[in-house]
Amino acid sequence: MSILIKNGRVVTASEDAIADVYIEGEKIAAIGKNLPMKAEREIDANGKFVFPGGIDPHVHLDMPFMGTFSSDSYETGTLAALHGGTTMVIDFILQTQGKPLRHALEAWQGRSNGNCFGDYSFHMAVTDFNDDTKKEIEEMVEKEGIVSFKTFMAYKGALMIDDRQMVGLMNEVKRCGGMVTVHATNGDLIDFLVAKHRSEGKLSPLYHYLSQPEITESEATGRFADLAYQTGAIGYVVHMTCEGALNHIRDAAKRNQKVYAETCIQYLLLDASLYEKDFDGAKWVMSPPLRQKKDQETLWAGINQGSVQVVATDHCPFKWEQKKMGEKDFSKIPNGHPAIEHRVELLFSEGVVKNRISLNKFVEVASTNAAKIFGMFPAKGTIAVGSDADIIILDPEVKHKLSAKTHHMNVDYSSYEGWEVTGKTKMTILRGKVAVEDGKVHIPKGYGKFIKRNKVKQHI
Ligand code: URP
Ligand code: ZN
Ligand code: ZN
Repeated sequence: MSILIKNGRVVTASEDAIADVYIEGEKIAAIGKNLPMKAEREIDANGKFVFPGGIDPHVHLDMPFMGTFSSDSYETGTLAALHGGTTMVIDFILQTQGKPLRHALEAWQGRSNGNCFGDYSFHMAVTDFNDDTKKEIEEMVEKEGIVSFKTFMAYKGALMIDDRQMVGLMNEVKRCGGMVTVHATNGDLIDFLVAKHRSEGKLSPLYHYLSQPEITESEATGRFADLAYQTGAIGYVVHMTCEGALNHIRDAAKRNQKVYAETCIQYLLLDASLYEKDFDGAKWVMSPPLRQKKDQETLWAGINQGSVQVVATDHCPFKWEQKKMGEKDFSKIPNGHPAIEHRVELLFSEGVVKNRISLNKFVEVASTNAAKIFGMFPAKGTIAVGSDADIIILDPEVKHKLSAKTHHMNVDYSSYEGWEVTGKTKMTILRGKVAVEDGKVHIPKGYGKFIKRNKVKQHI
């Protein structure tokens, strides 16, 4: 199959030009003005943007968590992602404490194999680092192409590791050529505040927020950065929300250390006032919680400064019935919110259209940087000859409203109900195939491929 995309405004992290893009098979074969090739399909992209497919490196699909499973399967989640312009996701495997990493890998493969519409990879969450786990790290990197290892400094008793384990893991991951990523919040302090609020009968979603103040995140972020400095490991902080945490990343950069920072679209756009809506606030119960407007400003600034490199989603949806598990106790509300479908369009609308970030920066944080950091560039994350033909065509003139009635995620509410968005993904091409066009799906389930990743280099 060959495709010629004509006269679009082709934007990468570094280029911006009206050009044609010629696709042959799964790859981009030529880029230029007035390309002479004849293709089986010619697409007129005049007046539209042609971007690399979005990469969301932080999603949780079909994940067992807090007594239930996140409600998007690999099928519904990756398809919703394609509708909104995300061609690849990186999902999280959770090691069960006391069991090997391979055990978890096989369980996750069992749920994902053959079920994805979009391309995907895994981070391996190490929840129990010991002499046996240590032996498995190299195999994950060399054999499975899983080069990023997730750690939790919170969720004690299920996922959290202590600093001794963290240091041991950092040393081994560094030796094997991988990177350590982190959910950086102080689990002990959070547990103390949760218990305090519960004992005082303070049980509404607002107390989820009040149990995770900014200091719980800034302290853990600084500690993680210090441990990475001591061990020389490359670090990556997931779902960063606040000024205090970002200042630790800035301090790490001052000593020429590499600690990448990811924020999520919700932390740029939503704030903690949503927790004042009684139980409705459960829609936004996630960890870390939404913060203040001043934190949103800091995060946008961090993106433009280059100290925040990635905008992800932490997509971890639960249906309202599932959220109601915590109706009488905020600590039982499954943590997470749905966003996989809307990240690219929201970032374009709120970021580019509202002049907060440039077009090139938009591509960088929505796609290119994740590909570079996580060992997939230049196959993914750019429009270049030889790269995978993962491309979206976005019409900047179309305004539309987000709603649970029209979205494709398997969740019965929207965190952005009624939000007007400027710019719509008209077409998503994945490895040379038109995957979604004007809302119609053209690929079968199973087209999405597991992407083995390369060892981590300090690309950016
Ligand atoms: O609330 C969240 N973030 N749920 C998913 C698990 C995690 O901590 O990323
Ligand atoms: Zn987390
Ligand atoms: Zn997460």
